[in-house]
Amino acid sequence: MSLFVSFEGPDGAGKSTQITLVSERISRAGYDVVETREPGGTPLGERVRSVLLDPGDHEIVPRAEALLMTAARAQHVDEVIRPALERGAIVLCDRFVDSTLAYQGAGRGLPQGELTALQEFALQGIHPDIVILLDIPSDEGIQRRHGSGVPLNRLDQDNSTFHERVRSWYVQAALDDPARWVVFDARRSPEDLADDVAETILKRHRKNYAETGANRTEE
Ligand code: TMP
Repeated sequence: MSLFVSFEGPDGAGKSTQITLVSERISRAGYDVVETREPGGTPLGERVRSVLLDPGDHEIVPRAEALLMTAARAQHVDEVIRPALERGAIVLCDRFVDSTLAYQGAGRGLPQGELTALQEFALQGIHPDIVILLDIPSDEGIQRRHGSGVPLNRLDQDNSTFHERVRSWYVQAALDDPARWVVFDARRSPEDLADDVAETILKRHRKNYAETGANRTEE
């Protein structure tokens, strides 16, 4: 039985490390796990990622940024996510639709309604079952990025009020939809955090499985 999990959070929350650790735990428990990321996850998506994130000298206007992120997502859904879900895998995706609503919506100020409509066009009904929010104050996240030795990407270099709007959007989205969002403090030790995140995912998987089984019995 499939499960689609997206990981979200401000820059520097440590999502990619967490996804690796959580994926190890879930596959050790015997499940088929697919790790992927956005923008990226497909050959086309990785090329779009370079265009979007390289801090080159080209300016990308907010609407073009939203369209490029979403175009990469449409390809990703069709080529990777939908097939993995159809074969019953647990998909762990580093960022998904909520990143567009947070960064291009709250961050850049594009209208949420128009972005949501654009997402529906690209996703064709594929939405995460759970969103794991790895929460960290945005200035601490950016400090971590500075300290990591990894070069800052084009979006990391945006100003601190941009990153604060992104973080506030995430916190509010999680409050508005507690059935889908689960919030973790990203400052915890990575191994302990991964234990709890993996347990949350597996619990949800077992619950969905039990409910589907119950429906089948009732039929
Ligand atoms: P990451 O490696 O931290 O995931 O970097 C991706 C960057 O792209 C990050 O700053 C968030 C940004 N982003 C958007 O602005 N909109 C999106 O839809 C996605 C997927 C990422």
